[in-house]
Amino acid sequence: MASIDTAVVHGGRDDLTAAGVHAPPLDRSTTYPLASLRSGTADLARLADGAATPVDSPVYARLHNPTVARWERGIATLERADAAVAFGSGMAAVTATLLAAGAIGRHVVAIRPLYGGTDHLLASGLLATRTTWARPDEVADAIEDDTALVIVETPANPTLALVDLAAVVEQAGDVPVLVDNTFATPILQRPLEHGATWALHSATKALGGHGDVIAGVVACSEERAQALRQVRIVTGALLDPQAAYLLHRSLPTLALRVRAAQNSACELAKRLQGRAGVTAVHHPSLPECDLDGLVDRQMDGPGSLLAIEVEGGYEAAARVMEHVALFTPAVSLGSTDSLIQHPAGLTHHVVDDEARTASGVGPGLLRLSIGIEDVDDLWDDLDQALPVGPTG
Ligand SMILES: Cc1ncc(COP(=O)(O)O)c(C=O)c1O
Repeated sequence: MASIDTAVVHGGRDDLTAAGVHAPPLDRSTTYPLASLRSGTADLARLADGAATPVDSPVYARLHNPTVARWERGIATLERADAAVAFGSGMAAVTATLLAAGAIGRHVVAIRPLYGGTDHLLASGLLATRTTWARPDEVADAIEDDTALVIVETPANPTLALVDLAAVVEQAGDVPVLVDNTFATPILQRPLEHGATWALHSATKALGGHGDVIAGVVACSEERAQALRQVRIVTGALLDPQAAYLLHRSLPTLALRVRAAQNSACELAKRLQGRAGVTAVHHPSLPECDLDGLVDRQMDGPGSLLAIEVEGGYEAAARVMEHVALFTPAVSLGSTDSLIQHPAGLTHHVVDDEARTASGVGPGLLRLSIGIEDVDDLWDDLDQALPVGPTG
């Protein structure tokens, strides 16, 4: 298996030389010529059953698109998976996985915190699922005969809490485990290597990396991928080929971007720990945030997201967001530029108040997505925006 640094550059480009091109072509066709009615029917049936590729023709773009398929092969390579299936957003990917796992009308075990949208989807029962919220060490007890899947995020959005993936998989037994790997990216963590069934991404984040694409993707076995493709075909939760083209264009720089941002996040975490007015810093690089040594055990680095708690609660946090100049006060993450947001008021606002507080998302918590700007410039911006504490 090629190093991940090589895989990001070459992933999904296997057919380009034979096609006589150097850059992945953007195919915007909605329909495709058929060599014969017979071969068209065969390909339609094959794709509707969840096959990865047609034999002669994609038939219709809701069944298959070559530009999307190339980017999917790239993601599968990075996640060390048989296959990956792309969707129109991260939430479409979560929904499709629940559908493909047969979770509708059944039971799900979920570990908080999760991204607010995922939490809301499960807590609201909008897809007729019934959820037991469990701590990581309660998963075995939470499993029922009817449990369709276990869902977990690590590092978790927005607290950066780490969960031992191998331990969750062991407790889940025969029940499949869905890991939202958005924060780590496949550069830093590959959940399938720890026994997970699906590794899911909001590709809107670091995989896209430039804040201009909404997308989702799930990496898994070919058998699981077939079920996901079937769901995608009938629900139409497609990734637009233009978005797939941009995502593939972002792939070769993924490792460079993730590591550059991560270096700055580690440095800022250290500086913020000593900053008056900051009462807590959450970043997996800090020993107190990784008591079980999970970064070494299941990751290749602590990542580029961090969270801080500021003295003065909501008002102080709101003031920081109003006073930053280089950081953009905005939701989302994983872009080349740095973003700052208030989870309790924004990304996790939809989460039940009590559950949100219990999972560590309080009024003074700010989540920072570090970009690839100069670290001293980022520090200066935070330092001038943070409240002047008792010693500062
Ligand atoms: C960890 C995580 N998972 C899933 C999602 C949903 O992704 P999307 O916004 O692409 O639908 C998000 C969005 O912020 C996220 O942060």
